[in-house]
Amino acid sequence: MKWQYVFTGLLGLLVVIGCTHSRHAYLLDLPESERVIYRIFPQPQPTGDPQKGFEYLVYGDYVGNGIPLKLYQKTFGSAQDSVLKREGDNGRVAYNVNVFESWYGEKVVNGNCFTCHAAVLEGQMVLGLGNSSLEFNRSKRLHTAILNWMVKRHYGKKSPQWAAFREHGQWLKATAAATIVDNPGVNPALRIEEATLAYRQPADLSFRAEPNFEIPRRAFGVDVPPLWTLKKKQALYYNGMGRGDFTKLLMQACLLGIHDSSAARRVQQHFPDVIAWLQQLEPPSYPIPVDTQLALRGKSIFEQQCEKCHGSYGEKPFYPNKIVHLDEVGTDPYYALYALQSPGNAWYNQSWFAQTPPKAYSKPSYGYVAPPLDGIWATAPYLHNGSVPTLEALLDSRKRPTYWQRSKQEGAYDIQAPGLPYREKASGAGKRTYNTRLPGYGNQGHTYGDTLSQAERKALIAYLKTL
Ligand code: HEC
Ligand code: HEC
Repeated sequence: MKWQYVFTGLLGLLVVIGCTHSRHAYLLDLPESERVIYRIFPQPQPTGDPQKGFEYLVYGDYVGNGIPLKLYQKTFGSAQDSVLKREGDNGRVAYNVNVFESWYGEKVVNGNCFTCHAAVLEGQMVLGLGNSSLEFNRSKRLHTAILNWMVKRHYGKKSPQWAAFREHGQWLKATAAATIVDNPGVNPALRIEEATLAYRQPADLSFRAEPNFEIPRRAFGVDVPPLWTLKKKQALYYNGMGRGDFTKLLMQACLLGIHDSSAARRVQQHFPDVIAWLQQLEPPSYPIPVDTQLALRGKSIFEQQCEKCHGSYGEKPFYPNKIVHLDEVGTDPYYALYALQSPGNAWYNQSWFAQTPPKAYSKPSYGYVAPPLDGIWATAPYLHNGSVPTLEALLDSRKRPTYWQRSKQEGAYDIQAPGLPYREKASGAGKRTYNTRLPGYGNQGHTYGDTLSQAERKALIAYLKTL
């Protein structure tokens, strides 16, 4: 299992870095000085058959290439997929990997979206919940080197198996350093994506041995967002940089192994169905009764102090899709600033993704999206960098721990708080301690709950549990 995580965990997602201006008329493009809070305008998205979309996610070939199935079974043995209960070869591997046919006709294994986008809550696997217990804080250099060596040795340099694996394996080796993060539980998807772009030709997505640009050295990670909020969003990622067509944005993980843009086109055709599946996802409901009187009081506080950014809930929900300037929200600016400067930027907007229809593009901003709060009780840790373990600490910045360690017990969650059970530490030492003093991991800002009384905060949290 550990090995599986090492490799499948390397799988990444998107998130690219974009141009600072836009030709797209549907965006409200305010001058920088006025962009304290601005709204992202609606963009129609294709949709399809949710059932087909789900099947594609759990059987499909969107990652393009991977480890030859036979070698995989020999090395890791068989598992039973008791989560997705799939059929055939996929029924004999863990839920977080797919067995599929590669471009070269070989059966291969690679991670799927649920490596990062599924997690256990209250003993149940919840699809669409971000997995904050994957660890990316150790180097994978040695592992990827061994894997490359194993495939080559097992099949020989002239084999179709090696051909199938090579584009993925060589890439893994070259980018292992880009995927190490320096705090527990955070995910380097943005960095993985940036690294995949470096090794692809923008026009036809073919692999290139020499990188297009140097991958910036500093590695950092973020919390994995929930997928059930996708249906409300007009732009993706924490800074709203994922714009335009969602099929292209969502299939970004294909760059981990896809042969070229013709293979990518075939993958893209399945993604209207994937969008349809994502659109019908619902957050898990809070599992124990909530004091309704208290929650009602919380609702009126929410309407006064939170709704303008996070939207309204209930019968007629409204979500405003706002990006809030760094100076206003005050949370750690590193991610937003990094994204604005990344060399992956120009690559994406010149690439197959942006230049062929349906077009997706990248437009980072000087701020963060105020996310929908559906199912917020279940998605700790909080903020884009996962620096705050509980909702109470999010709503009272004085209570946020500088150094903290989550409970060792796997899947432990504090339903009452709600949030992650944690211990405060005296220093940032140790791989298991979240250190908010490191660049990119600050827990400052978003002080909108600080002026509430303890009773008001309690009521507000009761209300948030009902969303
Ligand atoms: C390596 C882990 C990983 C894998 C694999 C992965 N993702 Fe993600 N995903 C992330 C992280 C981390 C983010 C947040 C990125 C950001 O905003 O910088 C994200 C963001 C997203 C978002 C945007 C959410 C939002 O609210 O803005 C969607 C939608 C999404 N992923 C869907 C998928 C799909 C579909 C797949 C499979 C094709 C996939 N992801 C594979 C880690 C992963
Ligand atoms: C001026 C706009 C604004 C107001 C007002 C505001 N928020 Fe936020 N909120 C944001 C932004 C932007 C983020 C994302 C910040 C980040 O991740 O760095 C956020 C993040 C959050 C998160 C964490 C989400 C997650 O998935 O980690 C919660 C919970 C939250 N806000 C609740 C509230 C509550 C409750 C109130 C009212 C007391 C409130 N917010 C008021 C803009 C706002």
